[in-house]
Amino acid sequence: MSQNWTEKYGAWALITGAAQGIGLEFSRQCALRGLNLIMADRDDDELSRAAAKLAEDFPALLIRPICTDVGHEAFLGAIEAECQGLEIGVLVNNAACGTVGQFLDTPESSLRLQLQVNMLAPMRLIQAFVPAMVERGRGAVFNVSSRTGEIGSPYFSTYAASKAWMTNFSEGLWYELRDAGVDLFVLKPDQTATPGYLKYSPGEFGDGIQPVEACVAEAFEYIGKCIGRIPVESGRQADAALKAMPIEEAVSANGEGMKQVFAGLLKQ
Ligand SMILES: NC(=O)c1ccc[n+]([C@@H]2O[C@H](COP(=O)([O-])OP(=O)(O)OC[C@H]3O[C@@H](n4cnc5c(N)ncnc54)[C@H](OP(=O)(O)O)[C@@H]3O)[C@@H](O)[C@H]2O)c1
Repeated sequence: MSQNWTEKYGAWALITGAAQGIGLEFSRQCALRGLNLIMADRDDDELSRAAAKLAEDFPALLIRPICTDVGHEAFLGAIEAECQGLEIGVLVNNAACGTVGQFLDTPESSLRLQLQVNMLAPMRLIQAFVPAMVERGRGAVFNVSSRTGEIGSPYFSTYAASKAWMTNFSEGLWYELRDAGVDLFVLKPDQTATPGYLKYSPGEFGDGIQPVEACVAEAFEYIGKCIGRIPVESGRQADAALKAMPIEEAVSANGEGMKQVFAGLLKQ
């Protein structure tokens, strides 16, 4: 398996939001495939711990943590400096942020941060690292979106819209890169058991929470076979049920769900 991936895509993987959750699992599953890692995250302590553990588990690999916040416009310089001279064969755009609450109450700083982290940073990383993949005629891009991006989501509308953007952007880019030998896959997780998810949603969603390993495994299984996927059957079914409704009903159902789950965070 490992020889395949390094030969097929290149020797190094660059992952954002790599200290925890889905990004850490992408790092681990890249390492399982023999890829050296550049792990970027803003949480220095978690990142150092995560990188040290992976270095222990995969002693033959090179693992470089880089503490950087992709929410800062200048983030790219630090990442490019760390990646100088390395063949980045796999890019994982995973870091994201979102604000729950009434849109009219959302501060401008939060809106700008979501634009920067969820959209601008992935675009700039793609423009920085994918031209070399195209030149080599091989490479892989994983963009992490969300099932939330499939249908409008009241009280989470800016985050959901940024994920709708991520999915739509990825679909267009998939076609542009396909003939250059670069695979792109957009992962649309549903409720996945990560620190970020569990912090805000302590179980009210019920049983449909997917283990992070299975969520990420789906991305590795399907890259090169299709553009993207919701990685869990319950999520695919819920998505199909919502899309079968008139849009007003589907959005209202999302809104009622959000009111229940985030009652404590919303103005009455
Ligand atoms: N878990 C789910 O149910 C779910 C569902 C749909 C989509 N997703 C998507 O999956 C991706 C990962 O989510 P997750 O649940 O794994 O999150 P997580 O458990 O919170 O882990 C995300 C990691 O990324 C870091 N990070 C956040 N903003 C960053 C920034 N500006 N620069 C650098 N690092 C940053 C976080 O650091 P801090 O701890 O300091 O924030 C954290 O270490 C996101 O794109 C999210 O939208 C997740």
